[in-house]
Amino acid sequence: MAIVAPSLLAANFLKLEEACNMINESVADWLHLDVMDGRFVPNISFGIPVIEHVRKATKKICDVHLMIEEPGNLVPTFKKAGADNIIVHLEACPNLHRNIQQIKELGMNAAVAINPHTPVFLLEDILVDLHHVLIMTVNPGFGGQKFIPHSIEKIKQLRKMINEKNLNVLIEVDGGVTVGNAKELVDAGADVLVAGNMVFSSNDPLSVIKQLRF
Ligand code: DX5
Ligand code: ZN
Repeated sequence: MAIVAPSLLAANFLKLEEACNMINESVADWLHLDVMDGRFVPNISFGIPVIEHVRKATKKICDVHLMIEEPGNLVPTFKKAGADNIIVHLEACPNLHRNIQQIKELGMNAAVAINPHTPVFLLEDILVDLHHVLIMTVNPGFGGQKFIPHSIEKIKQLRKMINEKNLNVLIEVDGGVTVGNAKELVDAGADVLVAGNMVFSSNDPLSVIKQLRF
């Protein structure tokens, strides 16, 4: 069954505690936290102090998606703030292997995200070191965008690569995930579904989270 990771980016920031309580009650396994620096992506979201507070309020696995340049400088600080998983972008990391080793040495699960224009084959030599791969299915920086259909092909390619190498790496999908496309994503090979707007714009987020769990 797919792991659902609601993205807090779509929550009401005046009511983050309520959002965390709702997620605690839900069948979601992970909580997805989007950090943006206004440089790697053209937007700024929230950072370390917010994650420290969220950590205290959530019982779920904190999946921290770093859409920032030079993430290595801040990885130890995100560990202290309570991250369980850290995702860095392949496009932001010329020394990606070093970044991944650093995350693992600090006792966290290491993941790599790829943007819509980045081909799956570039993961070939890092896959063995990863806990999961995040396939961006929209351009990073904003919630509420439309799913890019070509992403399905990328999920299938990555699933094939992971299976051929006999690895246990999870595939996470982020951007434009809905109750309408979740089954197709899981059928293509996705293990973790991030959902922001789908969950938080609903009147019944608990039921949406359940419905995403294909
Ligand atoms: C976008 C973020 C996503 C975002 C997804 O840059 O990485 O996690 O919150 O939002 P939705 O599900 O609304 O597309
Ligand atoms: Zn994200």
